[in-house]
Amino acid sequence: MKFPFCILTSNRTIIQRLSNYAFYGRLQHVQHSMPSKCIKHCPVLRCVCTDISQRTKAYYITTPIFYVNASPHIGHVYTAVTADCLHRYKLLQGYHSRFATGTDEHGLKIQQAADKADKDPLRFCTEVSESFRNVFQRCGILYTDYIRTTEKRHRQAVEHFWMVLHSKGFIYKGTYEGWYSTPDESFLTPTQVTDSTDSMGRQIKVSTESGHKVEWMKEDNYMFRLSEFREELLQWFRSNPKTIQPVKFQHLVLQLLEDDLPDLSVSRQKSRLQWGISVPGDPEQTIYVWLDALVNYLTVVGYPQNHSQWWTVVHHVIGKDILKFHAVYWPAFLLAAGLPLPQTIYVHSHWTVEGKKMSKSLGNVVNPQAAVEKFTMDGLRYFLLRQGVPDSDCDYYDDKVIKLCNSELADALGGLLNRCTAPSLNPKQVYPEFCNTFFPKDTSEGLDEKAVSEDYRMVEAVSLLPVLVEQHLENLHVYKALEAISACVRLTNGFIQRHAPWKLDQNDTKDKQWLDTILHVSLECLRMYGILLQPVVPGLADKILSRLGVKPEERSWDSLKFLVKHDGRDCHLEGRALGPDMGVLFSRLERSQGRTPKTATRQKSKPQ
Ligand code: MSP
Repeated sequence: MKFPFCILTSNRTIIQRLSNYAFYGRLQHVQHSMPSKCIKHCPVLRCVCTDISQRTKAYYITTPIFYVNASPHIGHVYTAVTADCLHRYKLLQGYHSRFATGTDEHGLKIQQAADKADKDPLRFCTEVSESFRNVFQRCGILYTDYIRTTEKRHRQAVEHFWMVLHSKGFIYKGTYEGWYSTPDESFLTPTQVTDSTDSMGRQIKVSTESGHKVEWMKEDNYMFRLSEFREELLQWFRSNPKTIQPVKFQHLVLQLLEDDLPDLSVSRQKSRLQWGISVPGDPEQTIYVWLDALVNYLTVVGYPQNHSQWWTVVHHVIGKDILKFHAVYWPAFLLAAGLPLPQTIYVHSHWTVEGKKMSKSLGNVVNPQAAVEKFTMDGLRYFLLRQGVPDSDCDYYDDKVIKLCNSELADALGGLLNRCTAPSLNPKQVYPEFCNTFFPKDTSEGLDEKAVSEDYRMVEAVSLLPVLVEQHLENLHVYKALEAISACVRLTNGFIQRHAPWKLDQNDTKDKQWLDTILHVSLECLRMYGILLQPVVPGLADKILSRLGVKPEERSWDSLKFLVKHDGRDCHLEGRALGPDMGVLFSRLERSQGRTPKTATRQKSKPQ
């Protein structure tokens, strides 16, 4: 089996040796057996193989693992729903897709949060990790793997990873002196720090990016030779301009890499941080939480034994705040360990609430459980994915959810389903027949033609919709995919309105045939929308497709063949009984009483 690698190195012998191995899994072993001097300068297989997923039909998608020092909020759910949407989409395309999420449970801030709650850290982590699982279940997050960094399999993976980096000479004992932000678990250079005052009016230093307080830290610990990877990373990003999406975030990373890239402290003294994984062979040091956390992506797929199959097809979904960790530290660690780099890093922006950053102190943290109760799972998912624009921050407030869901789900989509399956128009309740006479392929063909130019435009738009949706989903522009679907729903409603089938005489043969044709075209449109909407609103999509009588095995991406009768082919759905559920697709949402129009669902304290 041949895999396309781009091996960038000036050492011909190594190229020769590496190219003897077709599969990177074996390459790792070659690298392990090389002298560390060679390895240091030998680089790594860059995984430029963007089409490996396509050829192997394997796909591995991850969310960041969530800190357990705070309970889940809609920002977390947005990350998870976005990844879930990609995973479901890949499944529908026939991929063997793996989708990992989980919780990040080590580090000082978790240790402090457990202390504050007066709980044993592991018990504390277990409780909050469970609350993430519950929320994900309520939000229809169909993960295949759930990882907790306190699991044994993860500790073993991290220890192994550490030892590989160490044995290759990328980790050395040194002294770190500089700024550290505990809330961000991040080391900062002087240029990333600014002056500020705390609530008591005292002068403090804060991280320019997050605004969190930083402390000066000086301690002996282990350092990772990050500086050695600056050039390679720059080269990788330059030759793979689509790795980070949207592209604006790739530019940010390139800017970051233009600056100095100091070596990175990858451990903390045990006396300061106990809650973590000890450095192998040095119980006085604890591994830096970000190194620990990032390895979760490998743990899930069986590192160090069985990860090869999945590691060439990994795609990360992350929020913009953790870009540096995923686009600089992580690829550098992987390069050092001799592992392929991720195929894509999808970045999204943040949700604010009523124009403000979500924060416990402001009391404006939106509780996803409460939001699901009010708006339903599909309502919340639709809102987040329809309004969430990866490039820029989005604002949440309840009224916005209500307005959007009512207009696009209840009225437009629900109304369309209701109208074109109504027993008054379709007393037999079967998938009606299409008659070419009234809607010929060639507009100059028939005298009885009833379709008008707008109808042809609609048919064309719906035919092109799958390709458009696919393009947008591949770029993780879910909002654009939904915008396109919503525009087509409007066209189909316009089509029904224009031809007013309720005015036709069902006892007249021609009228009846035309009525059936109108319904057939409308149901075909709905069938397309139902299939395309599955990754976003799985519950509603199921309702639509079941009502149309579309069987589960007829709902994949392959079934997106629209209006085949129009092309003169047989439609196997014609005459099939519609599904029995005539209920409302999406009940209109009402504003809760006693609330001002722009009130968010507030969450006061952590659910424990
Ligand atoms: N534990 C780290 C990730 C380690 S991955 C190896 C972490 N956890 S987090 O809980 O703080 O954030 C998890 C995800 O939620 C991140 O992608 C982050 O961007 C996202 N969000 C947190 N707040 C958010 C919003 N207000 N809006 C959108 N997403 C947000 O970082």
